[in-house]
Amino acid sequence: MKTNQKNSKTSSAFKGSILHFLSDPEAETEGKGYEYFEDGLLFIEDGIVKSVGPFVELEKNLPKGTKITDYGDKLIMPGFIDTHLHYPQTDIIGSFGKKLLEWLEKYTFPVEGKFKDTDYANEVADFFLEELLRNGTTTAHVMCTVHKHSAEILFQKSLKKNLRMILGKVMMDRNAPEFLLDTPESGYNDSLELIEQWHEKQRLLYSVTPRFAITSTEEQLKKSAELLTTRKNLYLHTHLAENKDEIEFVAELFPWSKNYLDVYDKYGLVNDKSMFAHCVYLSKNEYRKMEETGASISFCPTSNLFLGSGLFDMDQSWQSNIKVGIGTDIGGGTSFSILKTLGEAYKVLQQKSQTLSPLRAFYLATLGGAKSLSLNDKIGNFESGKEADFVVLNFNATPLIERRLKNTADINERLFILMILGDDRSIEATHIMGEKVYAKA
Ligand code: GUN
Ligand code: ZN
Repeated sequence: MKTNQKNSKTSSAFKGSILHFLSDPEAETEGKGYEYFEDGLLFIEDGIVKSVGPFVELEKNLPKGTKITDYGDKLIMPGFIDTHLHYPQTDIIGSFGKKLLEWLEKYTFPVEGKFKDTDYANEVADFFLEELLRNGTTTAHVMCTVHKHSAEILFQKSLKKNLRMILGKVMMDRNAPEFLLDTPESGYNDSLELIEQWHEKQRLLYSVTPRFAITSTEEQLKKSAELLTTRKNLYLHTHLAENKDEIEFVAELFPWSKNYLDVYDKYGLVNDKSMFAHCVYLSKNEYRKMEETGASISFCPTSNLFLGSGLFDMDQSWQSNIKVGIGTDIGGGTSFSILKTLGEAYKVLQQKSQTLSPLRAFYLATLGGAKSLSLNDKIGNFESGKEADFVVLNFNATPLIERRLKNTADINERLFILMILGDDRSIEATHIMGEKVYAKA
């Protein structure tokens, strides 16, 4: 029987300067790797991008009655992607005086212990999601605590906001305070229940999360690999080669291992959906293994500087064709702002006599991040069919930035000023699947 279905698509359009990436702008040899429309239009239907291009060309073809929101001279970009952070560490950002292992003991484990209390977890989760959106971050890859409910709470709240988020309950069964330990069995069972309830529900995805090799026994690492086989498209999220003392401790705990990555590899945890945070100290063999398997790195510059961990080698990662995304690593990292994080990434690479062009930086924060999380078929740019998560950037957020921008020649220079001087004040609005969810007061 033929039904007379009414076309009830919700259309919206956004006018402004528009920038998005089609590939890595530095690696690109033929095109530029990006599209920039100084006077552009982004057309969205039912939360999905239909088209993007010059306003004068697209405006004529908009369906009758489409509301156009005019963002004037502001810059519309795909939402930022934070590839590694810890929501439970929101309240210990900027804790004084320690390096990784002592910082975990003194500040991190105690605050994660507070998540036993669901009221506290709820309150932090609310603040955390608001803070992401206030900073233009629309997708994040998040570590929760060992408590199953810490992930449940963040999943519930992300679902309500219709966010594309990847998260997981941390698993740790040794080398942490008793009150934060699970067991190989309980960690497996809790993770599996979370996977069954949340993985691929609406826009949510699950990441199997053994914290790092130091806090998991062999048994738990084996169980993590088992979890990865329970559903398609599951992620593996952990830390790797962040700090020299950490690496030494891993070598003591796994004396048979050839290197740190070898530990994860032995238990079947290295694949193209594995995201390894930090990777400051990788050997040639580890780079090779990452390349062979298609695993990704989260580069976390504010954390690596704050915890005195070391300087990430971006050039080596690029030469090895390893996918890299940007991570704030809250609370070892010191800012939720991806703009600030890009600025610090530039400074880290200056220390290594390497560089990060502004175009490549914003690629990393958008399409590059999406690629590192195998989500580039869904988010990361404004190709037709992508989910319409975007951020609106105000070039003139502070008197200093406004003044400095008068002395810039093109979009490249303007982007550089945004990443060096910009922060949450530069975020005018954040949209999730076309809907405005944050607007600067
Ligand atoms: N390695 C293991 N756990 C952590 C953590 O919480 N933060 C950072 N930066 N590194 C880690
Ligand atoms: Zn981390």
